[in-house]
Amino acid sequence: MVKSKKAKMVLDRNYKISQVDNRIYGSFIEHLGRAVYGGIYEPGHFDADEKGFRKDVMKLIKELNVPIVRYPGGNFVSGYNWEDGVGPVEKRPRRTELAWGTIETNEIGTNEFVEWSKKVGTDVMMAVNLGTRGADAARNLVEYCNHPSGTYWSDLRRSHGYEEPHNIKTWCLGNEMDGPWQICHKTAEEYGRLAAETAKVMKLVDPSIELVVCGSSSMEMPTFGQWEATVLEETYEHVDYISLHRYYGNAENDTANYLAKTLDLDAFIKSVIATCDYVKAKKRSKKTINLSLDEWNVWFHSNEADKKIEPWSIAPHQLEDLYNFEDALLVGGLLITMLKHADRLKMACLAQLVNVIAPIMTENEGASWKQTIFYPFMHVSNYGRGYVIKPVISSPLYDTKDFTDVPALESIAVSNEEKDELTIFALNRDLNDNLEFQCDVRSFKGYKIVEHIVLESNDVHAVNTKDNPNNVKPHNNGDAKIIDGIIEANLSKLSWNVIRLAKH
Ligand code: AHR
Repeated sequence: MVKSKKAKMVLDRNYKISQVDNRIYGSFIEHLGRAVYGGIYEPGHFDADEKGFRKDVMKLIKELNVPIVRYPGGNFVSGYNWEDGVGPVEKRPRRTELAWGTIETNEIGTNEFVEWSKKVGTDVMMAVNLGTRGADAARNLVEYCNHPSGTYWSDLRRSHGYEEPHNIKTWCLGNEMDGPWQICHKTAEEYGRLAAETAKVMKLVDPSIELVVCGSSSMEMPTFGQWEATVLEETYEHVDYISLHRYYGNAENDTANYLAKTLDLDAFIKSVIATCDYVKAKKRSKKTINLSLDEWNVWFHSNEADKKIEPWSIAPHQLEDLYNFEDALLVGGLLITMLKHADRLKMACLAQLVNVIAPIMTENEGASWKQTIFYPFMHVSNYGRGYVIKPVISSPLYDTKDFTDVPALESIAVSNEEKDELTIFALNRDLNDNLEFQCDVRSFKGYKIVEHIVLESNDVHAVNTKDNPNNVKPHNNGDAKIIDGIIEANLSKLSWNVIRLAKH
């Protein structure tokens, strides 16, 4: 018999952490594996549009409601010549792609990606190459994309058939430049100087753009902390955000420890905020640097398969993690953790969007389907817009291999004042016990339950596949009820819950 424990939460509508910046529901498309070729673009596919973009994939992306997509990399960008990807397609060079050991055909480049982004209703977060290239290529790309006309690069764009500027607002100054695997990896001092000068000239071309400087590739990097401090010392007044990248895995098959890794993300975010504010204090600056978690996800299932990829393949099956139920629970918990930091975390990109460590999978010349992690992302992206309300939580605690005092209940709420809606996201990560959840929402007068969505399974390893795409999917038969402003609900052991309320 499943036992129950009790968890309580209090929400006060006046106790707001911050308005959510919707860009925390961003994602990422890199020229890697089948993200572009076979993912968003497959000209021969039966459901492709006149430009070769897969309409079935676009439909799924629209369900995720993704406001911004980072492009074109990732490690790829550190060897990329953006000029290879513009102009007549038949003249574009095929190149050795050194980050992932493949061949890049350059069939898709900046303009096609911008066209695709408009079709799916998202903005582009463009990364520039600060590996093999630098300030000159970066400023030219800004001019090509954003300058109206009458200059060499803007007129080149117009001659390529794009009369209006793309007006790309958000730009990344390279990718993971702290990582020894990066093409033309740099020390913090080298990168800091290059990023500062590149930022200066990019903003001279278009002062309206916002810039993300590279933080650490993970908290395990030996340079973590000092890297952020040094890079910000050099770039502080020229940039707007610093990046964080974080991937999780459960190679040890220890579910309790795995689901506690939200605490690791929490610690990572807090440490980067502290480092930003340390540099702010040293510089006596009035400016605050915010955070861009522009790569995050689960990534480990495909590690072995990727060792067998044939060198110099074109669009191989690479980084194709098949996500299971416990991965979806962790992704939900990570999204809650991000919302807790909505005052400083302004952008985040689920890495990635299609086929490559992605919520959406496709078969070449075939179907597309939703992975398990699709659902928590879709829920939070659609219902997590508004003000984050700071919860007061009392929950049973447990210890795991790497963490102590892990609350069984991970939860947050978002209030949408325009629509008079309140949504509670709640993860019960207890392996054995249900939670009798009680939540005081008396300050939200007149609110009633709309639905209680639940994602649950009795198999943490359950997956969705082409042949069984609905094996793991949510239902809305949760039992949440509200009496006199107090919500009562049963949160099943190992379950993701979305309790939606509105004023009728
Ligand atoms: O998202 C896959 C890769 O992970 C990216 O190319 C790189 O930035 C990170 O290491």
